[in-house]
Amino acid sequence: MSDKLWYQEAVFFELNIRACCDSNGDGNGDFQGAITKLDYIRSLGVNCIWVQPMYPSPLKDDGYDVADYCGIHPDFGTIEDFKAFLDAAHARGLRVVTDLVMNHCSEEHPWFQAARADRNSPYRDYFVWSDTPEKYTETRIIFLDVEPSNWSYDEVAGQYFWHRFYASQPDLNYDNPIVHEEMFNIIRFWLDLGIDGFRADAVPYLYEREGTNCENLPETHEFLKKVRRLIDEEYPDRVLIAEANQWPEDLLPYFGDGDEFHICFHFPIMPRLFMALKSGDKTPIIDILARTPAIPPGAQWMTFLRNHDELTLEMVTPEERQWMWEQYAPNPRARLNLGIRRRLAPLLDNDQRRWLALNAMFLSLPGTPILYYGDEIGMGDNLALEDRYGVRTPMQWSADKNAGFSTADQTYLPVIDDENYGYQRLNVAAQERDDESYLAWTRYLINTRQGQPAFGPGTLDWVETGDKAVLAYRRTEGDNRVLCVFNLTDGARPSGIIPTTAQTDLLSREGRSFPAGEEIHLTPYECLWLLEN
Ligand code: NOJ
Repeated sequence: MSDKLWYQEAVFFELNIRACCDSNGDGNGDFQGAITKLDYIRSLGVNCIWVQPMYPSPLKDDGYDVADYCGIHPDFGTIEDFKAFLDAAHARGLRVVTDLVMNHCSEEHPWFQAARADRNSPYRDYFVWSDTPEKYTETRIIFLDVEPSNWSYDEVAGQYFWHRFYASQPDLNYDNPIVHEEMFNIIRFWLDLGIDGFRADAVPYLYEREGTNCENLPETHEFLKKVRRLIDEEYPDRVLIAEANQWPEDLLPYFGDGDEFHICFHFPIMPRLFMALKSGDKTPIIDILARTPAIPPGAQWMTFLRNHDELTLEMVTPEERQWMWEQYAPNPRARLNLGIRRRLAPLLDNDQRRWLALNAMFLSLPGTPILYYGDEIGMGDNLALEDRYGVRTPMQWSADKNAGFSTADQTYLPVIDDENYGYQRLNVAAQERDDESYLAWTRYLINTRQGQPAFGPGTLDWVETGDKAVLAYRRTEGDNRVLCVFNLTDGARPSGIIPTTAQTDLLSREGRSFPAGEEIHLTPYECLWLLEN
C-alpha cells in the first residue's frame, strides 16, 4: 500500500466513545474503556477509526454541539486519556480521525455566551445575526421535524441568530476572518496531538448569501481550500473527509483540483443499495454511479450502509422517498426528518443472506467503506428513544449486566433488551464462538477485501447479465481482477455469467470454484466475488 494513499485502500470504523466501554462505572463509555476494545476493533480488519465528537458539550446533539473545541468531555476522560487512546491505536496500526464541527458550535460555547450578552463584544461577529427572520429564505431546514426556522430569536441578544441545525447550535460566521483563524488553530491543536485527520461535519453550509440556497457557495470552497493548504503545508500525511450530503455533481467541487478534500462521503449511493435489494432491480445503483463524476487523482469516495444518523432520503426523488418509507419504515416511529432511524440488521429483517449480500456489495463497490459500530454484530435499535438515539445504544459485548458495557445501574441510554436483538443473546462474546455469526462474516469479508487491490482505487466495469435482478461488475487494479455477482431476489436464478476459465469464489470460505464453460446459477440473495487472475 503506497503510504500517501493509504486512505484509498483502507476500511474505516465509526466509533462513538460514549457507546463503546465504560471503565469507571458512571454509565458512559470513555477513552480508557475504548482502549481495552482496540484489539477487538483491530480484529475486524479495519485500518482507521473515526471518533465521533468527544468535546465538552451539553450533548443536545450528541456532541455535535461543541462547547470547547480543544477539550475532552469529562464523561469520556481527559486530554491525557485521549492521547493514550491515540497512542494505543497507533501501536496497533490503527489510524484515528476525529470530527471537526466547523459550521456551528453549542449555545453554551463561551463565544456565543459573550456574543449574546454584549453587542460590542468581539465575539458578536463570530455568529450570524439579524433583526428579522426574513433573510436567506430560500434555505431549506434540515431538522424539519423540530425546527420551524433557521433563525431563532435570542432574548438576551435582542436579535435573531442563524442555525442550520438545532437552535442550540448557532452557526459560526465565516465572513469574519477571525473565525477562520480560530478554526485553523483548532485544527493545528488536534493534528499536533497526532490525529490522522478529520471528518469535517456539515461543510456545505459555512456561508450565507441572499438569493441562494446557502449551500455549496464559492466562498465556502475558498475557505475549505485554505484548510487543505494548511494540512498540505504543515501536516502533509493527514486526511480530510467531507461530510456533504449532496448530489454527486455538487460533491465534485469538494475535491477541488485535488486541493480541497481527500475524501467525500458519497451519500446518494447509500439509499440506492437498499432500494436495489428491496426491489430486486439493480438500476438505481447503475444510474447513480453513471451520474458520479470522475474524481481527481489521489481523491476517494467514502461509502457507508449505516451511521449514527437516520438513513437519509434527502438525495432521492420524492417518489423514491415515499417508496423507501413504505418498504423500510412502515412504522411511523421509524421515520425522522427525511429519513429512517433504524440500524442495519433491523432494516434487513435480520436476514443474514440479505445482510451478507448488501455488505458484499458495499465492500466491493468503489470507495472507502466505513462501518458503524455494532452493525458488525447485527445490533438492533430502540424506536422508543427519541431522535437518532435509538441507533446509538451501548455496544453489546456479552450477556453480563448492561451487555458488559458498564457496571453502572443506569447507562447513558438503555442497552437493547428486546426479543430479537437483546444483549442476552446478541453480543460479541456469543458471536466469537459462532463461525456463522455476523461478526465472523464481517471479519471474513473485510479481510478478503483487504487482500484484493482491485477493491481499493481499482476501476469498475459493469458486466451484462441479461437480468435486472442480477448485478455484476468487475473491479480491476493491474493484474488483480474480481468479478462480483449478486442475486438481488429471494428466488434462485441463472446469473447469465459463463466463466471462460475456472474461477474461485473468494466469498466461499471453503474455496468453492466454478468450472469454465458452465453458466453459474445463484441461490436466493447469493453473492460471489470471483477471482479472475
Ligand atoms: C451531521 C452529523 O452527522 C449529525 O449527527 C449532526 O446532527 C449534524 N451534522 C449537525 O452537526
